[in-house]
Amino acid sequence: MFSIKTILRKRLRPLTRQRIRSLLVTFLNLFFKVKLDDLANLYGTDKNYKHDYTKYYDMLFSKIRHKKIILLEIGIGGYEKSNLGGASLRMWKKYFKRGLINGIDIYDKKKIEEKRIRTFRVNQTDQANLEIVITKIGSPDIIIDDGSHHNGDVIKTFMILFPHLTSNGFYIIEDVHTSYRDSYGGDSKTLENKKTTMNFFKKIADNSNLEFFKKELLDKSIIKTSIDFIWFTKGMIIIKK
Ligand SMILES: C[S@@+](CC[C@H](N)C(=O)[O-])C[C@H]1O[C@@H](n2cnc3c(N)ncnc32)[C@H](O)[C@@H]1O
Repeated sequence: MFSIKTILRKRLRPLTRQRIRSLLVTFLNLFFKVKLDDLANLYGTDKNYKHDYTKYYDMLFSKIRHKKIILLEIGIGGYEKSNLGGASLRMWKKYFKRGLINGIDIYDKKKIEEKRIRTFRVNQTDQANLEIVITKIGSPDIIIDDGSHHNGDVIKTFMILFPHLTSNGFYIIEDVHTSYRDSYGGDSKTLENKKTTMNFFKKIADNSNLEFFKKELLDKSIIKTSIDFIWFTKGMIIIKK
């Protein structure tokens, strides 16, 4: 027996399905305050049903939901298929009603652009092109890394983009369980490997006390910026500048 959902998935093109989803969300928004969890599920990003990240996002962002924020997400989704992806960008657009939503992907995603959603084809470790993106969109208030999840890439991208984050901004890294996967440049055998995402960010935790560093310590610290806090949750690292 086919469900209506399966029939629609088979018969309708991805873009048509996306438009129907958007209309449904707009309609629901008229009568209910749709929660971030529901927006994630409606648009089809795995940030709720698989990873349970949206509860943390809502905790962080509910107070700034109505501000005209600039958000940059690395990893748009759909991989090489140019008309696929964009689920989380659409979710953020509905959540931040005045927000400017930007996505970076290694593949071209121009087809998924719409009002308040811009995309850029850039490798997340390409410093020169990342900086061009920043000059085009302005300093982001929120940066989310949901790209390659390769440990080396995650660290390099953070070192390039964190200085461009606004003060009080949030930098979030998703899927940090890849820290313990060899295929992602993580380490499944030891917790001591300094090259993993988790071990790199454990060191950043010191920067919440940067004002107490002596000069020699500051010279040796990984980043010279003070941070407000860093949270480690299952699968996610959240840093507030
Ligand atoms: C998990 S998907 C993103 C899903 C999306 N954020 C969502 O929640 O709907 C990961 C995306 O990262 C992109 N990606 C992989 N390596 C990348 C890199 N080095 N630079 C930029 N994007 C990359 C892939 O093409 C893919 O579309």
